[in-house]
Amino acid sequence: MSDLILDVRGLTAGYTEEPIIQDMGMRAERARITGIIGPNGCGKSTFLKAIVGIVSPTSGQVMLDGSDVTYNTPFETLKYGLAYIPQGRQVFADMSVLENLRMSAYTLRDETVIRGRFDEAFTHFPRLYERRQQLAGTLSGGEQSMLSFAMAMVLQPKCMLLDEPSLGLAPTMIEQIFETIIEMNEAGMSMVVVEQNINVLFQIADYIYILDSGRNRFDGNPEDVLKQEELLKLYMGVQA
Ligand SMILES: Nc1ncnc2c1ncn2[C@@H]1O[C@H](COP(=O)(O)OP(=O)(O)OP(=O)(O)O)[C@@H](O)[C@H]1O
Ligand SMILES: [Mg+2]
Repeated sequence: MSDLILDVRGLTAGYTEEPIIQDMGMRAERARITGIIGPNGCGKSTFLKAIVGIVSPTSGQVMLDGSDVTYNTPFETLKYGLAYIPQGRQVFADMSVLENLRMSAYTLRDETVIRGRFDEAFTHFPRLYERRQQLAGTLSGGEQSMLSFAMAMVLQPKCMLLDEPSLGLAPTMIEQIFETIIEMNEAGMSMVVVEQNINVLFQIADYIYILDSGRNRFDGNPEDVLKQEELLKLYMGVQA
């Protein structure tokens, strides 16, 4: 029997009356990496936003580790253990690295716990420790990525949703971010990763969903998806 951390069914949501995603589903297994791919503008980010409650679904259900979080606010969803790292590395530009981590950790009361979590994040990202007093807005793109990742790590969520972690990063930085994803996953973290960089995603994901025009198009393990040559060419513009 599969052990689902996230079970999304029939999710319909949008920004106006017209739905952007329709009847979308996803089953993400605990301690696995679930990948999501699809063409630009097909609704990948909207799907994640509807799951965490930034966009309110008009129908459907989101179950997180057995709890119904469908109509929860993003903050409530986070308290249940679902952390969302948005596309485009959103950090507080006018605050230092440490202040950013503090903002993220503001629900944690115990100073010893907070220090321990920061130490863990800095162990993963020594560069952030070196730059802990630097304003986040002046960090490089890769460093800002590390920071947004570290901000989620300090919360020790049950599951992380990552929206295009490789976007705009140099290959070495992409490698580093994906190594961290693998390390965290090996330590038991459940992850859902939206990614255009199919080459990298297919190496790490246990299961892949292909979306198209706000709907589920195909899903399977990476080997099955790679057999869908026409689909990959048509929707991703890649040579399978
Ligand atoms: N805040 C918003 N208000 C209105 N429409 C929006 C908003 N955000 C996104 N959309 C629209 O919803 C559709 C899906 O966008 P979304 O960002 O979910 O796509 P995506 O698959 O993540 O694309 P990309 O690969 O470019 O990140 C697009 O047509 C977009 O213009
Ligand atoms: Mg997007």
